[in-house]
Amino acid sequence: MNEDKIDPWASKVIETKKLFEEFGIEEIMPLMERLPIKHRLLRRGMISGHRDYDRIVDAIERREDFAVMSGFMPSGEAHIGNKMVMEEIIWHQQMGGEAFVAIADMEAHVVRGVSFEKCRRLGIEGYITSMIALGLDPEKAHIYFQSKNFKLRDLMFETGIVSNFSTLGAIYGFSGETSISHAISALTQSADILYPQLKEFGGPKPVVIPVGFDQDPHIRLTRDIASKFRKFRVEQRGDYVSIRSRSASEKLIHKLFDKIKEYGTVKKYKGHIDVFNLESDQNLKVIEELVRKTEVEEGGYGFHLPSSIYHRFTSGLTGGKMSSSKPESYISLTEKPEDAAKKVKRAKTGGRVTINEQREKGGEPEKCAVFELLLFHLIEDDEEIDRIREECKEGERVCGECKALAADLIEEFLIDHQEKREEAADRIDEYLEA
Ligand code: TRP
Ligand code: SF4
Repeated sequence: MNEDKIDPWASKVIETKKLFEEFGIEEIMPLMERLPIKHRLLRRGMISGHRDYDRIVDAIERREDFAVMSGFMPSGEAHIGNKMVMEEIIWHQQMGGEAFVAIADMEAHVVRGVSFEKCRRLGIEGYITSMIALGLDPEKAHIYFQSKNFKLRDLMFETGIVSNFSTLGAIYGFSGETSISHAISALTQSADILYPQLKEFGGPKPVVIPVGFDQDPHIRLTRDIASKFRKFRVEQRGDYVSIRSRSASEKLIHKLFDKIKEYGTVKKYKGHIDVFNLESDQNLKVIEELVRKTEVEEGGYGFHLPSSIYHRFTSGLTGGKMSSSKPESYISLTEKPEDAAKKVKRAKTGGRVTINEQREKGGEPEKCAVFELLLFHLIEDDEEIDRIREECKEGERVCGECKALAADLIEEFLIDHQEKREEAADRIDEYLEA
């Protein structure tokens, strides 16, 4: 694997700095102000990056259609790291988005060797049940298994038409040794991401994909695929708007020309149209939408580039990354509450070696897995979390106190969550679309 590529299947902690500087991910904080629900994960900096999230915020503000979509690879039990993605989907559903949830059984099968039967069980018992227990409205969500969703697989096949081995190689570092089904699972994820924009669901719309930073290669690939499906490219060029054909027929260009005339002075050439003297800035958007609509009328997809938001990985209780291959490192959503409490009590903290040293220098909450649990998962109240952080830094707190608090809270959360899971479990089959 090439050093400067991110391998989304490697389960490694990744350098996010580069993603901002070289790959164009932007800081999300400036957009928080405009959101009707300022989620804990966003307020506390767990979610820190985005691509084109402005469009989603616009749609929320204007009450326009948008969707939220993400997926889970059912390769083990769902843990509190996975819970973050669940919360992000639910949060956007509550802000008005249409929710889509993929259980990536094709990916788990080829990449992790999990059988389809086991994927089905893990998917239903782990991820879907927990998501509903956490507050997803299942009646308004589209939940499916990749392998059983033939509309999705048809779309995946289309994505394969506009993709080739060199693009996949450049993005993922695939080589001649990479298995074909692994490559297919990457295209399937692209299809997942574009799926909410199919005409069955009302056609093109902004879609936000909440994911970990390690999934960014999939987002980049899909944005590339989405633009390859477009028949036209619309661009502001100085004082005019240029509409260039990528694959549109002369007939389609002509049709568009007729529609666009009323928005400004229009000149038509072979393969492109220029629009001058736009009456207002808003008209660029109007023209973009007109082009998109015309494409769809002619049987095209007219996809928007997907937007994304990125959260960083959850630290494992033992340090490093939370990983389903290390049971001591994670808390599963289905484990016994008292076992989870014990794990928390054994977790790595940012405390000093002796109590005296702790009093003098203070602890290091930013290096503390227990603090992280409190910060991202267990404490909603901002003042309380600030107080704990300050007390720790000032040496006014000992780790035992935090551990006892976190252990109590995780136990309480799991008892409640598991009760809600039982209620949710009864009706799961009704909610599955594939
Ligand atoms: N590859 C993702 C993971 O490993 C799961 C996934 C499948 C996904 N399809 C998706 C994530 C679509 C976001 C969007 O967790
Ligand atoms: Fe972590 Fe609390 Fe110890 Fe500070 S006092 S290092 S926050 S456990």
